[in-house]
Amino acid sequence: MSAGMKRVSVSDLQRMRSKGQPITMITAYDYPTAKLADAAGVPVILVGDSLGMVVLGYESTLPVTMEDMIHHGSAVARGAERAHVVVDMPFGSYQTGWKDALRNATRLMQETGCSSVKLEGGQRSAGIVERLVEAGIPVMGHVGLTPQSVNTMGGYKVQGRTPRDAVRVLNDAKALEEAGAYAIVLEVVPAIVAWRITERLSIPTIGIGAGPYCNGQVQVFHDMLGLDPDMDPRHARRFIEGGELIRNAISEYRDAVEDGSFPTPAESFFLDAAKRQHIEATLARHAHHSSGGADRAQPAPDSAHEGVDAEVAMLEQDEVT
Ligand code: KIV
Repeated sequence: MSAGMKRVSVSDLQRMRSKGQPITMITAYDYPTAKLADAAGVPVILVGDSLGMVVLGYESTLPVTMEDMIHHGSAVARGAERAHVVVDMPFGSYQTGWKDALRNATRLMQETGCSSVKLEGGQRSAGIVERLVEAGIPVMGHVGLTPQSVNTMGGYKVQGRTPRDAVRVLNDAKALEEAGAYAIVLEVVPAIVAWRITERLSIPTIGIGAGPYCNGQVQVFHDMLGLDPDMDPRHARRFIEGGELIRNAISEYRDAVEDGSFPTPAESFFLDAAKRQHIEATLARHAHHSSGGADRAQPAPDSAHEGVDAEVAMLEQDEVT
């Protein structure tokens, strides 16, 4: 981190909530994205296990491993100088008991350099959250639609739609707060439920598909940039049609290679005539030795350098020596 640059802490997020300052969180899975999010002033970057679906091409988040999260989490932590980096605990890394949870959360903190971890589940995960917080690991909770439970939920469905279920989601959020979580993601719950939960908690709520009354919002990077034409969830806004822009740029590149307009002399490296001849002679000798002289390379004809000598003077600073 640059000298004087202070990383966003859990107390900063609590302060933002107290001041009514909305908290922006975005997912990132690699170094350049983390750098961009950091430069855009986003205070929290989540290395979500959505990684499995948007980057690795799995159908759910279940196959994501600790190694995946460490690999991507450490790249993000290297790219983010100021943002608070949260890394998701993948499926199977904490459901098997607090000892596994503590060991795996410790690994994530030590091996990625992140600032906190996130795990899914309310009342059922509260005991684990308590152990991690006691051990000095800040934990972000996650209730409502919890993608790691897709098989018990019977799909990716809105949660808290009935009075009974809304109370369950509220109790889940309360249990996490009591266990010491510093913030809670509310995923895909009706806006009224998220609003009432946000009112009743004293820690920040960060919504995704949870309406406008949370203390903050989180978006999946690929969704908000429109990077995958097959993914267009209702709760995501495409701030740019990035997939189309990138596809067009790649087509232009392919056209340029195919029509010979890439690379130009300015995108290449040349040598002045003397050095070129020296190299030509050396390469010719080398070809002679390595092929036993059978197919001796011919020096490139002068016409091969036509138009190039004019560029040499200009490019001399870039010369490969
Ligand atoms: O994995 C993820 O990206 C998440 C967000 C959707 C909150 O958990």
